Amino acid sequence: MSSPFAHVQQLPRDPVLGITEAFVADSSPRKVNLGVGVYLDENGHVPLLDCVQQAEEELLRRKGPHSYVPIDGIAAFDNAVASLIFSGERPSLDERLVTVQALGGTGALKLGADFLRTTNPSARIWISDPSWENHRALFSAAGFEVETYPYYRADGGLDFAGLIQTLSSLPSGDILLLHACCHNPTGLDLEPYQWAEIQALAAERGVIPFLDAAYLGFADGLDADRVAIDTFAQAGLPFLVSFSFSKSLSLYGERVGALAVVTGGAAERGPVLSQIKRIARTTYSSPPSHGGATVATILNEPGLTALWHDELALMRDRIKAMREGLAERLRVQVPDRDFSFITRQRGMFSYSGLSKEAVEMLRSRFSIYALDSGRICVAALNKANLDIVAEAIATVLRESGEQSLVA
Ligand code: LMR
Repeated sequence: MSSPFAHVQQLPRDPVLGITEAFVADSSPRKVNLGVGVYLDENGHVPLLDCVQQAEEELLRRKGPHSYVPIDGIAAFDNAVASLIFSGERPSLDERLVTVQALGGTGALKLGADFLRTTNPSARIWISDPSWENHRALFSAAGFEVETYPYYRADGGLDFAGLIQTLSSLPSGDILLLHACCHNPTGLDLEPYQWAEIQALAAERGVIPFLDAAYLGFADGLDADRVAIDTFAQAGLPFLVSFSFSKSLSLYGERVGALAVVTGGAAERGPVLSQIKRIARTTYSSPPSHGGATVATILNEPGLTALWHDELALMRDRIKAMREGLAERLRVQVPDRDFSFITRQRGMFSYSGLSKEAVEMLRSRFSIYALDSGRICVAALNKANLDIVAEAIATVLRESGEQSLVA
């Protein structure tokens, strides 16, 4: 009997997590993983934050049973996360706000995508060019036609005019996916006046904004990084936010995040929540409890919240120092080029402009892993690997004869 799977095609590896698979298989003692967006501490380890450890100790002391969590998540989590996402704007939105616990930022995007597919089945979704690799895949898998709007210019700048031009032509009901801060992969963020312009135009066109806020807190801090969310919240129109604690609380494997939907009014709240609960229930039933309980403990205990803010600031500052260190070393190694873009970009990544060939050379010759797009995770640099990485990039640039790093 022939196998029912004989025709199944081999897919290419995941563009982000597949790099980690290749890194793990590499036996070089000098290997460096600059692929996946994971913050590593000065010793090259994923940190266990003190606030997380203290919250987990508290949970252990409480000795709770491993009961089911409600479909939409732990109430104390949803409530605290709504305040974290919307801060001062929350009271004005509360009556029409739906916030549900999700399986990381990806899970939040997926809940939002599946929900929007039911409400706007003929809509297209517009993502930035470039965007996080999984955005296209995730929204395609949810059944959407995925289009791009201009974002990154060949000279390393932001194509705001192109973005606005595209947005001006979108039909009502289409969805506009935006990176709230620390744009992944380019590290180029919009200015407050640009957010205001986008919000006004999206409102005029009837386009639904969906903000991916996976890196909130990594640019200038939680308050400053809320500028996009605040702009949309103040307008009072419907929009969605996906949120993640993977990076900001270093809770990657716990899969803890949230989807927030600002609905059109109090009467929409119940129906929207019911639809999202149905999607969660038919996909994974209810979210896992440990990550949500840990986050709820941190956000509901002022001492732990303050500790988290301090630890987040330390991560943010260390990334900035690594950016400066890399830019400085490259300036010395390759004096005829301008590397100042590395320090202007924000968040965990630098869009290095390295070509796919240069990235391959980095991998095969130096066991340094970056994404094919040239994105490197500066949050994985430390004092011990900075020289190695800078020297390798400089060698690759010289030997490959690449003329432009940002291109
Ligand atoms: C990344 O962009 O590297 C992260 O968001 C991790 C992931 O899931 O791709």
